Amino acid sequence: MAKPFEPKITAFVCNWCTYAGADLTGTSRIKYQPNIRIIRLPCTGRIDFMLLQKAFARGADGIIVSGCHPNDCHYSSGNYHARRRWMVFNDLMEFMGVDGRRVTFSWVSAAEGTKWAALVNEVTDAVRQLGPYTEYQRLIGAGVA
Ligand code: FES
Repeated sequence: MAKPFEPKITAFVCNWCTYAGADLTGTSRIKYQPNIRIIRLPCTGRIDFMLLQKAFARGADGIIVSGCHPNDCHYSSGNYHARRRWMVFNDLMEFMGVDGRRVTFSWVSAAEGTKWAALVNEVTDAVRQLGPYTEYQRLIGAGVA
């Protein structure tokens, strides 16, 4: 009998807020779904479209990008840069035919372990409903991505 689909979620998180928030989730023993793989960035200002593409190309079914709340970025404005890029990413994803429902942008602070767990559960459930992201492999094959 085939195993039920379990989504692979890649999370790009900033070191100072969301990574610490995810750590707090663990030290607070808050349970959440184990589908997440975290990639720690110094700041969400580091996010770029190629990172999202690479994650999908390597089998991610969904992606979370999360960092400090507005005005809390440790590099002053990295999260504002990320937010601006996010708007460009949406246009690029739409142009390329990438399913934008599979990418979630969020702010989670170092004190929001509960919010991190809720975010992971919400995204995992949503992506589970969408199913495996095999469409992206088709885009790669067509030379679009
Ligand atoms: Fe967290 Fe910039 S350091 S978003």
